[in-house]
Amino acid sequence: MATQLDQKVTDAIDPSVRERFVDGSVHDVMRQLRKEAPIHHCADSPYGPYWSITKHRDIIEIEALPAIFSSEGARGGISILDQSAAIDQMSMETFIAMDPPRHTAKRRTVSPAFTPSEMTRLSDEIRQRTSDLLDELPRNEEFNWVERVSVPLTTDMLAILFNYPWEERHKLITWSDAITSFDMIENLPEERMALIFEMVTAFHQLWDLRSKSEQTPDLLSMMIHSDALGKMDAQEFLGNMALLIVGGNDTTRNSMSAIPVAFSQYPDEWAKIQNDESLLPNAASEVIRWQTPVAHMRRTVVADAEFHGHKFREGDKIILWYISANRDEAVFDNADKFIADRENARRHLSFGYGVHRCVGARLAELQIQILLSEMVKRKMSFELEGDIVRANNPFVHGILNVPARIGSN
Ligand code: HEM
Repeated sequence: MATQLDQKVTDAIDPSVRERFVDGSVHDVMRQLRKEAPIHHCADSPYGPYWSITKHRDIIEIEALPAIFSSEGARGGISILDQSAAIDQMSMETFIAMDPPRHTAKRRTVSPAFTPSEMTRLSDEIRQRTSDLLDELPRNEEFNWVERVSVPLTTDMLAILFNYPWEERHKLITWSDAITSFDMIENLPEERMALIFEMVTAFHQLWDLRSKSEQTPDLLSMMIHSDALGKMDAQEFLGNMALLIVGGNDTTRNSMSAIPVAFSQYPDEWAKIQNDESLLPNAASEVIRWQTPVAHMRRTVVADAEFHGHKFREGDKIILWYISANRDEAVFDNADKFIADRENARRHLSFGYGVHRCVGARLAELQIQILLSEMVKRKMSFELEGDIVRANNPFVHGILNVPARIGSN
């Protein structure tokens, strides 16, 4: 437990500083906070004052108390940047920014799309797309893995999930990026609004079209037609579509982008998987732990509360740093290293914890596992031809460029 004195030493630290996410030094800051001030108050930041929670066990404790630590959009939402008015103006309420009991009922409307049997149904098509894409990649020349692999595979995965018009599928990514981009929120608000408006219009048209046609076995149709789910209206459909494309987009993309980075840094771990394919599910979890595609989620304190000797006031912003919990030395040995057969890789908090734990986790794991297994099948080898470029975003922990060169062993 940190003392008041320890807290003073680290008082000036603002772990959300974007440059830290670009140069990777965020891990050093988080290590310092875990050691010296695991519950830390930053009094002044571009996002206002906020608390940082950096230990695995403390994040779990807070996520298990949604009645005190709220996700509600009206209280500020789910990231360090207060919920954007642009989304509210479109009346797009999403259940990730709701508390129980409202959250419970709304989540139930999409969760049937992510059952193990649904994953089996989707897996053949995802495997086929992944396989085709890997075969088309250039060999022995440099290319950006993010552009050539992570973005198209994520786009295809979302289009398959929704049975979305195939030629239009890239738009899902453009809209999702517009919703989450901190740069667009701050610097291009009008362009961003125009894209969100385009998305709303397209989803409305889709709603009209699909409600008049027969039910098909995909999520989109399920949301529109299923009596069991209490038939959602157009507005709810819109919110769910936006949430699902955002939830599944840069998260899965950034996990895939971490694969060549991890294995070029730790080639022995790649060799382990090539020698033993039963490690694939564990290796997929380790990719998701090691990258931590969502650096944090935010909660807002609903009523004054005491937490491990710290006084939280109503309205305080609490940042749950998954990026730190996933490297917490109290849980993960040699936590900075990628270890394909790490025995507790699945304890990562990349998907969060508790009532909001990621509803798409199985789909993300499936996609990463399929990608790894198709890479193993091709006995792929890879090198990085230069430095990777990371996104300057303290929420979406992203990679923009992975200059890769692949070959076959
Ligand atoms: C929620 C991460 C993939 C849809 C979340 C949360 C996190 C997360 C951190 C919030 C958890 C919390 O507050 O406790 C990830 C990561 C992914 C991924 C790291 C990939 C590696 C997906 C996919 C989809 C999806 C593929 C769907 C297509 C959602 C939805 C929620 C959610 C709908 C809201 C759940 C709720 O509030 O009950 N995800 N996600 N995610 N995710 Fe994911």
